Amino acid sequence: MTTDTNTTGIRRIPLVRPAHIYYTHKNIDKAREFLLNFGFKETKRVGKSTYYEGTGPDPWVYCAREGDEDEFGGAAFLVESMDDLEYASKTLPDATKIYELTDAPGGGSCVTFKDPVDKFPFHLVFGQAFDHATALPERQYNYPMEKHRPGNATQKMEKGPAPVHKLGHFGMCVTDFARAFDFYTTRFNFTPSDLIHEPSGKDITVFLHLDRGAELVDHHCFFFYEGPKCHVHHSSYETHDFDTQLMGHHWLRRSGYENCWGVGRHIMGSQIFDYWFDPSRFIVEHYIDGDLVNNETPTNRSLAAPDNLHVWGPEVPDGFLE
Ligand SMILES: [Fe+2]
Repeated sequence: MTTDTNTTGIRRIPLVRPAHIYYTHKNIDKAREFLLNFGFKETKRVGKSTYYEGTGPDPWVYCAREGDEDEFGGAAFLVESMDDLEYASKTLPDATKIYELTDAPGGGSCVTFKDPVDKFPFHLVFGQAFDHATALPERQYNYPMEKHRPGNATQKMEKGPAPVHKLGHFGMCVTDFARAFDFYTTRFNFTPSDLIHEPSGKDITVFLHLDRGAELVDHHCFFFYEGPKCHVHHSSYETHDFDTQLMGHHWLRRSGYENCWGVGRHIMGSQIFDYWFDPSRFIVEHYIDGDLVNNETPTNRSLAAPDNLHVWGPEVPDGFLE
């Protein structure tokens, strides 16, 4: 994919997809226990970092760090080339020099920069080794008029966590929506799928996909909305299917974890969602069946409304978007 230059002369860096995410936890033992019950698989432990993989091609998707504060450590996106990493290092706010992910599974080179207003970290990665693949269940379903399963066969599942496949998206509360929107849509190929505005017409929330031309991509991989204090809202992980998602839901319930919101069906992006609090009170989500979009998909702009978040499922919990 070719890079393009916007009207300010700054080149947009084409991101490929979300790769992984970092969180620091004061109580690392409780965090590790939760992550296994949520469906991550530990792949490497080194120093204060524990790396977790999913069933997708990424060598890891979540890094839990032990530290003095519960803290969001930023998400990482893949870039297309070392040139893009070098350009990022020279042009993005508070950007590091290129450094090697020496401890992480799959290695790779990284640049970390900071959000220009709220200063949360954001990572760009190139050159990871992808030698990771996990077989997924081949589950078929019978419908009233279409029977997909062979006769004399049963639908068997074993109780357990819902295996995470990949990091799908993450969301931030930002203190200056307009500046964040301008920054992420001019420096990268982030493109709005859904924009939500106030009655005054001011945009306050955006769900962004990556413009990869005609290639179909997830409806959103990054979203943000305006609020008084910057914080991570949640990060979200795709799991295999609805059975797996509900199996994981009941596994987490039985394991004594606190459900945040779900199971339900979103309107923007259409995912079936299930949000949970981890022991450090970060919100993490299992999702399945999200919409795919490409460069033929128009941006949908809608008025903020209490009923625009879901079609079915429990009522939106108090404080979900505060
Ligand atoms: Fe989500």
